[in-house]
Amino acid sequence: TPAGTIIAVDGPAAAGKGTLARRLAVAFGLPYLDTGLLYRAVGRRLLDAGADPRDAIHAEAAARALIAEDLARTDLRGPAADMAASAVAAIPAVRAALLDWQRDFGRAQGAVMDGRDIGTVVFPDAQAKLFVTASIEERTRRRLAELRARGIAADPAQVEAELRVRDAQDEARPVAPLRPAADALLLDTTDLDAEAAFTEALQLIESRLGKDLDTRRA
Ligand code: CDP
Ligand code: CDP
Repeated sequence: TPAGTIIAVDGPAAAGKGTLARRLAVAFGLPYLDTGLLYRAVGRRLLDAGADPRDAIHAEAAARALIAEDLARTDLRGPAADMAASAVAAIPAVRAALLDWQRDFGRAQGAVMDGRDIGTVVFPDAQAKLFVTASIEERTRRRLAELRARGIAADPAQVEAELRVRDAQDEARPVAPLRPAADALLLDTTDLDAEAAFTEALQLIESRLGKDLDTRRA
């Protein structure tokens, strides 16, 4: 892989973006960034302060404070943080505050980055873009299994409803909505396990990077 290569991995909640992107990063020898953690950390800060995650002024201040600090300290993976992340992610000033940090991360050494808008907004000229999906039923099963593995009992109907609300919110927002880039490679993982999804993704990316190199040489 040429130095500075960006591989974008976008898609809806619990589609398997993180699992796949981490493996691709190892395979291509690139750093990995889970951009969802940025929005989760901003949402968490507002929840911890007793503030409404839809409060744009407070959320922008939290985003600006965050980028200088350590992300790994708080619980960013619970259901409350899911919804708070999606709420702050709809605020344009929050996205603006996090944009340069993400671009600097990718430009330093190239990267595999997973999120919602990597291929459309953060790196529209990424060398390879994957849009990873799975049916709502399968994504609900995956999220439930994850919660179960963490010892959290959850109601399947509620988990499914929360995924639906969050995806609808992420798709409907005017700024950086969740949608595939025009040149994204679509990967439906409904009937693929993590290993099969990785194999399929590798083939898609290698053929795209190969074509890219041919075009540059021509
Ligand atoms: O990042 P995203 O929310 O899209 O998904 P994830 O955090 O990678 O979680 C997906 C879960 O589904 C993990 O527990 C995986 O082991 C599992 N899974 C997967 O990632 N890919 C498949 N093709 C099948 C299952
Ligand atoms: O792991 P999961 O797919 O459930 O969520 P995540 O990737 O951690 O993202 C949490 C929330 O952050 C999403 O529902 C989006 O609203 C927001 N997000 C975003 O707007 N843009 C990104 N690049 C990444 C996440």
